[in-house]
Amino acid sequence: MDLTTLFKISYGVYIVGSSWNDNYSACIATTVMQVTSEDVPKLIAVINKQNYTHELISKSKRVNISVLSQNSNLDFIAKFGFQSGRTSNKLSSVLYEIGNNNIPIITENAICAYETSVINEIDVGTHTIFVLLLENTKKISYDNVLTYDYYHNVIKGGVPKTAATYINQEKHKFNVSKGDDKMNRYRCKICGYIYDEEKEGVKFEDLPDDWVCPLCKTPKTNFEKEIENEL
Ligand SMILES: Cc1cc2nc3c(=O)[nH]c(=O)nc-3n(C[C@H](O)[C@H](O)[C@H](O)COP(=O)(O)O)c2cc1C
Repeated sequence: MDLTTLFKISYGVYIVGSSWNDNYSACIATTVMQVTSEDVPKLIAVINKQNYTHELISKSKRVNISVLSQNSNLDFIAKFGFQSGRTSNKLSSVLYEIGNNNIPIITENAICAYETSVINEIDVGTHTIFVLLLENTKKISYDNVLTYDYYHNVIKGGVPKTAATYINQEKHKFNVSKGDDKMNRYRCKICGYIYDEEKEGVKFEDLPDDWVCPLCKTPKTNFEKEIENEL
């Protein structure tokens, strides 16, 4: 089975947030979509059980979602997508407003936002599919929508293991060429940061041994050569 075919599924990039008893968190998620339109529209969001956001959604049953714009840079994505609200304050130094449902809405780098409540939960193993009823919408900007394709190919961002779309390269034994002279991309196994030899102008193996990931500061040994997309 060729799992690189899954790279051809299209996604947007969203911030999914919730709060409970003055605790707040939000995570980046690609797996948000509208599933019905009649009466009141319904959406789904697929959230990893390990995420703090999952814990808060399960308790509050309320979820606010921001649709991100192409202005979002890697530092901004890293705050919501590679750090946990258990150990960092995700509302510090970002623009946000409090929604009608009392849950913060991230407005920075957002095009619009949705206030929702959970009406069903489907257990899919590592993740829960939260079925959401749309209760309020907010227009924020007219910037271009950030797609996952743009995030991956232009911003050069990766995904952590908790992402619904993460693919374990070692487990699935993708064809990865070894010892060639062409420019490759290396992915941080901790935070998903991509080191692109072509963009950087320096081969990964020529970086000093004490070089660390610019995003999560893990050592060079935690990088792996990226999957070659053969499609
Ligand atoms: C591009 C990208 C896409 C992601 N997609 C998802 C997703 O669809 N579902 C999910 O649960 N986590 C996803 N994640 C991972 C969470 O954003 C990440 O685990 C976050 O640090 C969790 O924060 P929390 O513990 O405060 O909830 C994604 C991360 C990135 C960078």
